[in-house]
Amino acid sequence: MKKENASFEYEVFDSVDSLPAADGLLLEKARAVARKAYAPYSNFFVGAALLLQNGQTVTGTNQENAASPAGLCAERVALSAGASLYPGVPILTIAISYFNNKTNTSLSPLSPCGICRQSLLEYELRQQQPIRVVLGGMEGEIWVINEVKMLLPLFFSGTALM
Ligand code: THU
Repeated sequence: MKKENASFEYEVFDSVDSLPAADGLLLEKARAVARKAYAPYSNFFVGAALLLQNGQTVTGTNQENAASPAGLCAERVALSAGASLYPGVPILTIAISYFNNKTNTSLSPLSPCGICRQSLLEYELRQQQPIRVVLGGMEGEIWVINEVKMLLPLFFSGTALM
């Protein structure tokens, strides 16, 4: 028996002011769009903003449904919109933010759910270049992860199907 270790480093910023300017702008877009989410069941409003290599920004919000499995997370709405509007254009960065409308708080970063990590990974592998992930609430510290792979150790991918 031997042991392996999977760990990763990420950057922590105190506020949007200390982030690189492009990341700060993208996070502000995610924060703004989160307010437009359709989340009447959870009252958890999520916004995602993609910066594409062609300079365009595409946003998405969570879209809930009375039949909950039919609902969609903000990240996957943004990814689908980006790939539909600009097919084949690589994603440089995704910023994700949220507002908890039940507790009126948004103080720490939102970490994407497992399904969204898998979806993000599909796009990263497909474009063969890293997608940076910027995570922040409406306030509080901001985390920057330099590639999606880091968020999904021992990931499953299409190579297993070949
Ligand atoms: N949600 C997202 O949009 N992204 C995530 O990464 C986590 C969860 C949404 C799904 C649902 O509408 C609400 O937040 C509560 O789970």
